[in-house]
Amino acid sequence: MAETKKLFIKTYGCQMNVYDSERMAEALGADGYTETKDMSDADMILLNTCHIREKAAEKVYSELGRLRPLKEVNPDLKIGVAGCVAQAEGEEIMRRQPLVDLVVGPQTYHRLPDLMAKVNAGQPALDTDFPEEDKFEHLPKRVLPNRGPTAFLTVQEGCDKFCAFCVVPYTRGAEVSRPAERIMKEAKNLVTRGVREITLLGQNVNAYHGHAGGLAGLIDDLAAIDGLERIRFTTSHPNDMDDALIEAHGTQPKLMPYLHLPVQSGSDRILKAMNRKHTADRYIKLIARIREARPDLLLSGDFIVGFPGETDQDFEDTMALVRDVHYGQAYSFKYSPRPGTPAAEKENVPDDVATDRLHRLQALLTQQQRETQDSMVGRIVDVLFEKKGRIDGQLIGKSGYLHAVHAEAPDSDIGQIRKVKITNAVTNSLAGELV
Ligand code: SAH
Ligand code: SF4
Ligand code: F3S
Repeated sequence: MAETKKLFIKTYGCQMNVYDSERMAEALGADGYTETKDMSDADMILLNTCHIREKAAEKVYSELGRLRPLKEVNPDLKIGVAGCVAQAEGEEIMRRQPLVDLVVGPQTYHRLPDLMAKVNAGQPALDTDFPEEDKFEHLPKRVLPNRGPTAFLTVQEGCDKFCAFCVVPYTRGAEVSRPAERIMKEAKNLVTRGVREITLLGQNVNAYHGHAGGLAGLIDDLAAIDGLERIRFTTSHPNDMDDALIEAHGTQPKLMPYLHLPVQSGSDRILKAMNRKHTADRYIKLIARIREARPDLLLSGDFIVGFPGETDQDFEDTMALVRDVHYGQAYSFKYSPRPGTPAAEKENVPDDVATDRLHRLQALLTQQQRETQDSMVGRIVDVLFEKKGRIDGQLIGKSGYLHAVHAEAPDSDIGQIRKVKITNAVTNSLAGELV
């Protein structure tokens, strides 16, 4: 056994990166690294990065700038860049940032121990392949001790949809589904380690085809695991919401009543220019069908404003769709041109116009979120407690609808599902009392 070295991982971007960071820590754990929460104490710092918008990618370079003094104090400190910026700009990072020792893409991090060996031998270590082998089969078994009652589990990776604005098909590669039996094994292992809730992840998770019954079939199999109480999935594409998955929202009690289903825009013209391959009307009808299966479903979405060519009328169509659908929660972004994507060639909407639209949309979405939160007051919900709150004696957990809920409860309730009566609501969380 090699001596213990300390690893600090900083994670940016989506849940898939959160999952990957955990797996990278495990891969390096087999190489003698244990995780530290203190960056200045680390022998290795790994930035797991996101390339989705310009701001996200810029964060990496400013963080690298902040790491320079640490490396001056400790020349043995190793610095690695992983994730989607590594995939998109790895060679450039290596060239421009001499303090970076290692670059590894999202599909090759199972090779981290080999890359570390190269680093230790003073060789350049860059791996951004899209390899043939399944990285999950080459990663060490997930043996870290108890890790809290909720977990992410990646079941599908990559994207073949090529929305005109999006880098994901380039940074994550083609759509691949993991075989169902391997997912079942990983899920059972998580449950033996105290996990009660699993969120299935994929860039297009509902395009999952590693099970004959698709994602709904996989969810049914997972629901049969004793001790696993809650199942969620994210992120879905409207065109891949098949009948079985819609029905599962009504019939599978372990599938939680929350759905993140991005539409991006309410204008058919813009949807077409974005290459989303559906209309606003089809999305609205789809939502109606899902709500028929599960009337209390909390709906979430993503929106982009200021996509090239977006007129005032196109934006009003988005506002109208939002009013029509009513979201419990949603994310909205100003369009950010990304190198290599088709939309980046087009002329941008003036920045002040896009900013103004973003503010208007966010005001509407916040109002809807607030209404949804307020409507919870007085209701009794099941809460899975995850950790201690900031106030002594208080725990924080999630409702089935994914609200953050605070309540006074004994520490022994962490990992348990309890009935909580909601007494107070603010925009981002709820407070309640055990019943
Ligand atoms: N696979 C998911 C989304 C992945 S990216 C899906 O298809 O819905 C998460 C969100 O980031 C997207 O839904 C979109 O709203 C936003 N996004 C992606 N590229 C963007 C860009 N170039 N500018 C602004 N927002 C973007
Ligand atoms: Fe990006 Fe579109 Fe794929 Fe989502 S479906 S990851 S937005 S290309
Ligand atoms: Fe970002 Fe890559 Fe996820 S670009 S959103 S970390 S897939």
